[in-house]
Amino acid sequence: MCGIAGYVGKNQAKPFLLSGLEKLEYRGYDSAGICIADETGLKSCKAKGRLSELVEKSKNMDLSGTTGIGHTRWATHGAPTEYNAHPHFSNDGNFAIVHNGIIENYLDLKAFLAEKGFTFASDTDTEVIPQLMQYYYNGNVFDTFLTVVSKLEGAYALGLVSTYEPNTLYATRKDSPLIAGLGKGENYIASDIPAILSETKDVYLLEQGEFAIVTADEIKIVDQDKNPIDKKIFEVNWDVSAAEKEGYDFFMMKEIMEQPKAILDTIHPRIKGNEIVLDELSLDKSYFKGLNKVHIIACGSAYHVGLVGKNIIEGIARVDTQVDLASEFRYRNPVINDGDLAIIISQSGETSDTLAALRYAKQHNAKIISIVNVRGSSIARESDDVLYTNAGPEIAVATTKAYSTQMEVLFLLGLYIAEIKGKITQEERAELVDELLSIPEKVKGQLSDIEYLETLGKKFKDVEDVFFIGRGIDYSIAMEGSLKLKEISYIHSEAYAAGELKHGTISLIEDGTLVVALATQDQLFEKMLSNIKEVKARGAYVIGVAQEGNTAIEKEADYVIYVPKTKGCFAGALEVIPLQVFAYFISLHKGLDVDKPRNLAKSVTVE
Ligand code: AGP
Ligand code: GLU
Repeated sequence: MCGIAGYVGKNQAKPFLLSGLEKLEYRGYDSAGICIADETGLKSCKAKGRLSELVEKSKNMDLSGTTGIGHTRWATHGAPTEYNAHPHFSNDGNFAIVHNGIIENYLDLKAFLAEKGFTFASDTDTEVIPQLMQYYYNGNVFDTFLTVVSKLEGAYALGLVSTYEPNTLYATRKDSPLIAGLGKGENYIASDIPAILSETKDVYLLEQGEFAIVTADEIKIVDQDKNPIDKKIFEVNWDVSAAEKEGYDFFMMKEIMEQPKAILDTIHPRIKGNEIVLDELSLDKSYFKGLNKVHIIACGSAYHVGLVGKNIIEGIARVDTQVDLASEFRYRNPVINDGDLAIIISQSGETSDTLAALRYAKQHNAKIISIVNVRGSSIARESDDVLYTNAGPEIAVATTKAYSTQMEVLFLLGLYIAEIKGKITQEERAELVDELLSIPEKVKGQLSDIEYLETLGKKFKDVEDVFFIGRGIDYSIAMEGSLKLKEISYIHSEAYAAGELKHGTISLIEDGTLVVALATQDQLFEKMLSNIKEVKARGAYVIGVAQEGNTAIEKEADYVIYVPKTKGCFAGALEVIPLQVFAYFISLHKGLDVDKPRNLAKSVTVE
């Protein structure tokens, strides 16, 4: 979950470490630290809180040197304090480690080390690693690193520096991402691409169990038996500007505004004429023809988009579709038949629960198609096929453009399967594809005037409870609207199927409770109007969301947000936009850090 940055080269390490960490701060931001190695020893600076604290604190310190590692933390073991911040050190001060993930057997290792007389300066699981380096050190840093890593259980991406070889960085990974970036006379390690994007676009994506030995002049990748691995350079196709705010106050608004382009970039290359062409798939049409069951598996917003996917794949392609939270999937002993399709959705491609669910589905002989934003990420690498969302890097913790593009991919895949299975005719498909192609322009129109949403955001910023209600696809979007609001505004909110309220939840509605009622499905519109009446009768304040032209909602709701007209199944793509913007303005006007909400991190690489 954390950010790791490392540098070795001809220049001072500190500026890169701080700027690299700044780009990664979205991955964890409760404390941060850097360590520089040179012949005189290890010099470090750590600070609790945001990276800016570290930048301030390190200003007047001697942190000169050309090799170093840095870390922004998302605490798993031990409170977010300065003494728990990484890097962690060996007792003799010769080794420093940054770590992303969890060492599951750290208590055993700690007891072992304590018995040998080691003392610990932090409550973290990580600290056992530098201490083990000291304990096993045999005159060769890399051999010792191999020994120590073989003792670790759990998930880790590690960066190591040592006084014995102050011009070398060592790194490895298991179940947590790590890359090595190639510069000229300088090289890098990082837990994610944005950290190094301004320096280089050539990277090695480390695979499970691979080790990188990084000096100013070269990056050697070897396996655990020290056999060299001939790795291909992966060329990053993102622009440097993609990881910059470019004048926006927050990445979230920048990313909301990028949606028309992101959606277009995702659907356009996959539509030829009005046919859906999914060249990326190795699974052939006969596979889809015989397909009987789909499992959609994901976490958080990606799960919510999966629910929209179910509406398409089941509703239109008529294939039985189950949607599971990744963290639940493998523990409920699901029925998976040989050849079932598992659709794994993940922006980061590194979410640990999702990756574990993918592996479980694979072991049970499901075919895996993943919908992923980050190229070369673990989920992408372990899938049979990947349908990438072309959203560009998403930095704000609250997802917007990745969510929207995931939905587009599900539309494409759902319609593709529907046609192969003969559930829609070519004419129907052509009509739906035309509609799909109109979505980017419609979203653009929605985003060209957001003043009204800002007014609503300001007006409701101090409410304590919000209920999002809807039916069918609107219910799936209600879940996303509710999550967006709670994660960045800290307002309690719930999503309910509108017809379910009367079975219990309606008891929570009282004078002034805010209800956001989503009513974009024509066939369910009248029923939604009745549900709005029910909550109004109990004193609720209602913001209604409906398609343009369905003005009957104005009689029932206190405020109305209209979304452009589209075919029912696509309405979610438009309806989510004002909900994202509404949540953004509430957070903004509450004065919160929209991009980095408390307790969260962008990429959740722990279970
Ligand atoms: C979205 O706003 C959240 N921050 C979160 O729910 C996220 O969607 C979830 O953690 C899944 O992440 P992934 O798409 O990278 O797998
Ligand atoms: N488990 C380690 C800790 O709590 C690493 C957490 C992280 O990935 O930031 O310090």
